Amino acid sequence: MNDLKTQLLPTSQDAVDQAGVLLRQGEVVAIPTETVYGLAASSLNGEAVKKIFSAKGRPQDNPLISHIADLSMLEMVVRDVPQAAYRLAEAFWPGPLTMILPRSEQVADEVCAGLETASVRMPSHPVAQAVIRAAGVPLAAPSANLSGSPSPTTAQDVFADMNGKIPLILDGGACEVGVESTVVSLAGPKPVLLRPGYITKGQLEQVLECEVLLADAVLHPLKQGEKAASPGMKYKHYAPKAEVTILKGPFSAYVSYVEKHCEPGTFCLCFAGEENSLPCPCVLYGHEKDPAEQAQRLFSALRELDARGAERVYARCPEEGGIALAVYNRLLRAAAFRVIEL
Ligand code: TXA
Ligand code: MG
Repeated sequence: MNDLKTQLLPTSQDAVDQAGVLLRQGEVVAIPTETVYGLAASSLNGEAVKKIFSAKGRPQDNPLISHIADLSMLEMVVRDVPQAAYRLAEAFWPGPLTMILPRSEQVADEVCAGLETASVRMPSHPVAQAVIRAAGVPLAAPSANLSGSPSPTTAQDVFADMNGKIPLILDGGACEVGVESTVVSLAGPKPVLLRPGYITKGQLEQVLECEVLLADAVLHPLKQGEKAASPGMKYKHYAPKAEVTILKGPFSAYVSYVEKHCEPGTFCLCFAGEENSLPCPCVLYGHEKDPAEQAQRLFSALRELDARGAERVYARCPEEGGIALAVYNRLLRAAAFRVIEL
């Protein structure tokens, strides 16, 4: 897949039609969604799905989310859909919520990576919806980055990782949410939040009228030999090339720490407005009190750190509740769980 010419097209009806044709032929196309860009192929075509894994360099045991345009496609992906799932769908679809349920027969084995469950979401991005309709089938789509690098939030990010590997990227502008969807499992006795996102644990609990458990891997590295509830959580993820350390504590303590440790190649990943008080070059990721803006900015900030040749990065610590939990979860992985309490 090395000498493919990769087209980067602005979105138009023509471009969507072209994507539909490629997808029906079993090809892979990168598409915008409201969370991050996705690398899409038909969920029902195992050979097509294999191309996603090879373009990303993704481990084969990490299952993919299927994207549907309306509820009529739901049972192509999953079965035995409980009432709770319909309540969540009613409240949050189309939008950045993924549900895990028992898999259907129809969905390709490659999508489920050997599990008895499948994951499904209905994206709200109009281009994603139009492409799913043009393809006429659910689309399996992981984030469109090389495995291990930060998720792409612009078509240019996708191009940087996928040029020469896929035939087409649709450019739908910058993603609104900026971190991947909330993943909740409804396949066990109690709902479990496997990956935090824009839809928060509190919002899910309000709709479900019951407690949603938080998977241990959201905030902690897996212990040796432990099996991940969500295979994606066992991989080092979202990582820039630089060594990132999260400094947890008040801004004044952060400034003193950075002043003592600033060397050539050291960067600050800090909140907007803080840059003038710091001795190192700074990359900003939103305002301290605006977790939605932090989510939107985080992955592009991590990519910017690489582009500017950062070797060591000291990151300001987001909060741990609500949308900020999603930001903290991604940053923890970018930092390989290195946190210093100030
Ligand atoms: O926002 C999103 O969800 C984006 C856009 C493109 O829709 N997609 C995305 O996909 O983030 P991906 O493949 O990068 O992340 C999917 C996560 C992985 O951690 C995977 O292990 C988990 O969901 N997952 C998928 N199916 C699962 C299943 N059946 N059981 C447990 N975890 C599952
Ligand atoms: Mg991903």
